[in-house]
Formats: sequence, C-alpha cells, structure tokens
Amino acid sequence: MTIDQEKLVLPKAESWQMFNAISPKYDQLNHLLSFGLDRGWRKSLVTWLPSRRDLRVLDLATGTGDVLITLLKKSFNIDSACGVDLAEEMLKIAQRKVREAQLSDRVSFQKGDAAQIPYPDESFDVVTMAFGIRNTPAPDKVLKEMLRVLKKGGRVIILEFSLPADPFLRGLQLFYLRRIVPLVGGMVSGNAQAYRYLNQTIETFPSGEAFYELLEDAGFQIVSSQALTFGSATIYKGDKV
Ligand SMILES: C[S@@+](CC[C@H](N)C(=O)[O-])C[C@H]1O[C@@H](n2cnc3c(N)ncnc32)[C@H](O)[C@@H]1O
Repeated sequence: MTIDQEKLVLPKAESWQMFNAISPKYDQLNHLLSFGLDRGWRKSLVTWLPSRRDLRVLDLATGTGDVLITLLKKSFNIDSACGVDLAEEMLKIAQRKVREAQLSDRVSFQKGDAAQIPYPDESFDVVTMAFGIRNTPAPDKVLKEMLRVLKKGGRVIILEFSLPADPFLRGLQLFYLRRIVPLVGGMVSGNAQAYRYLNQTIETFPSGEAFYELLEDAGFQIVSSQALTFGSATIYKGDKV
C-alpha cells in the first residue's frame, strides 16, 4: 500500500506541533517501540564522523537531544554542537538532558526550521539529522540548506527509517508499523494519530536509491549509506567537496 502525501493523518508542516504534544513520552516510546534499537542506531552515527578534530556539528530536528548527547559522549573529535528544532517543548527536554550530562558548555539550542536554517553559510563541519527529514514537507529544500551551512569538505549524516528489502521482513515490519505501533503508541502517549503518522511517513519516504538522488541533486558528492537492523533504518552520508 502506498499513501499519497495528501492522505497523511497530519500535514508534515504541522508535525512539530504534534511532537510538542507528545514530548513528555517521546523518549520512553522511542525506546519501547524500537525495542531499544534506536540507541544503537544513533551510536552508529559516530562511525560516520570525519576523522579530523575540532568539529563543529549542527543537529537538525534535534528533538530531545539524543543525537547530540550520543555524539559528544562517544566522539573526541567534536568541539561544539548546535541543535535546531521547531518544537519548543522537545528543546526544553533536550536542554535539561544536556545539562544533566554536563555538556551545556559545548551545546546550544535554537528554535528554527530545517528548511531555513538560522545560521550563516559555511558555519559547520558536520550536519546530522535523525528521524527528522521524513517529517519535512520539502526534503530537497532541507538538503540544499544543509549544503549551504556546511563548510567546504563538510559532511551530512542522515539517519532515517526505511523498510527491509527482504519481502518477509518487510511484511513483518509493515504489520508492526500499521497495527502494533499506533496501538501501543496511542495507549502510552494518548495520541494514536501521532503513531499512525509515523507509519504513514515511513511508508512514503523515498529511501535507498531515491534518497541518493535527492542528495546528489542537492549537490552532495561521494554519497553512501549503511543499512541498520536488516534495513529497518538507514544512515546516509554525503560530502560537500
Ligand atoms: C522523530 S523526531 C526526531 C528527534 C531526534 N532527532 C531523535 O533522534 O530522536 C522529529 C523531530 O523533527 C522536528 N521537526 C519537524 N519538522 C521540522 C522542521 N521543519 N524543522 C526542524 N525540526 C522539525 C520535530 O519537532 C521533532 O522534534
């Protein structure tokens, strides 16, 4: 089954408001619904960081800050990092978690749109985005903005849900996404619509080769990817040369 963008239970442009609403339960449900796999997926991002030191990192759709906290804890190559998101309630949680992790002196947060990044050209060595680009109405615009704020020699690293190529595993994942996720997500967060939106956006997202094309059209080069957990999620990398 494919779902037209117009038939999503919520327009992508309004998704940040839904994230504000579910923010108190967001982390708990992430870990519960992914059986804790989301933590390992974010850790895998570290292996894609450039090997040079003193990196300045921007994390778009930073949400509750888990990508930045993971990167800063696991890599010695990062000097400082900024997180951008449209959902203020998610950012408040991110700020608290960064304080608790004693990383406040190296991390700042700003409310902003990934399609209009609130930083000047060539400000960062790395731009990351985990489970965010799927929620934006115009991913091509976001990718162009990422390219703009990256320094020459910089890198974009994107983590996003995908579907396994194996038909049996794909069927299993679709059953889980369509039937179980909205049920459990709805019960715990009180917002079943948010978790129907999740499966709809995963099913309609242009993953794999189609996403390579988007990256290359935006101007990224040396594009590559890594499938995680049989292809349930994918890390994409592109360089600004
Ligand atoms: C699924 S969460 C991902 C959060 C975090 N990156 C993680 O790994 O858990 C998606 C986030 O994208 C944010 N978002 C949606 N549209 C956005 C936009 N246009 N610009 C910036 N953030 C956006 C939402 O507010 C939400 O916090």
